[in-house]
Amino acid sequence: MKRNILLIGFMGTGKSTISRQLGKNTGMKEIDLDAYIVEKAGKSINDIFAEEGEKAFRKMETASLRELAGVKNCIISCGGGTATREVNVPLMKALGQVVLLTATPETIYQRVRTSNDRPILNGNMNVEYIGELLAKRLPYYEKAADITVATDDKTVETIAYEIAERCRL
Ligand code: S3P
Repeated sequence: MKRNILLIGFMGTGKSTISRQLGKNTGMKEIDLDAYIVEKAGKSINDIFAEEGEKAFRKMETASLRELAGVKNCIISCGGGTATREVNVPLMKALGQVVLLTATPETIYQRVRTSNDRPILNGNMNVEYIGELLAKRLPYYEKAADITVATDDKTVETIAYEIAERCRL
């Protein structure tokens, strides 16, 4: 039985991009937790936050992780907040190896600054806010992670190769 790889980390650390590259390199199937929720809810992340609130979205994340129990040999990219909810961590660990992607607030800002589908950063799109939220979240990310891979100044190929090596894919 092949276990899954779960990608966690702040918005803009490259979870979706790395998932795509890893999927291409290994043939593993990709599951994007945000996309899974959007499909199930029948509306965008922005609309879920606006109409039902963040708390409802967090419950959907946990419910989705529970529904994924039993999937194998997949790359599961989580949302930037998934690992910060303690109830999610054992669910993630049971699914597979948890890989934390990191980047500095400056790198993250450069990657997300034109995005308007991240309600957490609406009205807060600046390096200072990103740095503060990242500092609050980092202990949770680190607690959940089996391995950590820094992404600053590395190509997508290099990062995917490093993950494949360290996770023995
Ligand atoms: C969130 C990150 C988003 C998405 C939602 C909340 C967060 O995922 O789950 O907007 O709390 O950091 P990405 O990290 O894929 O942008």
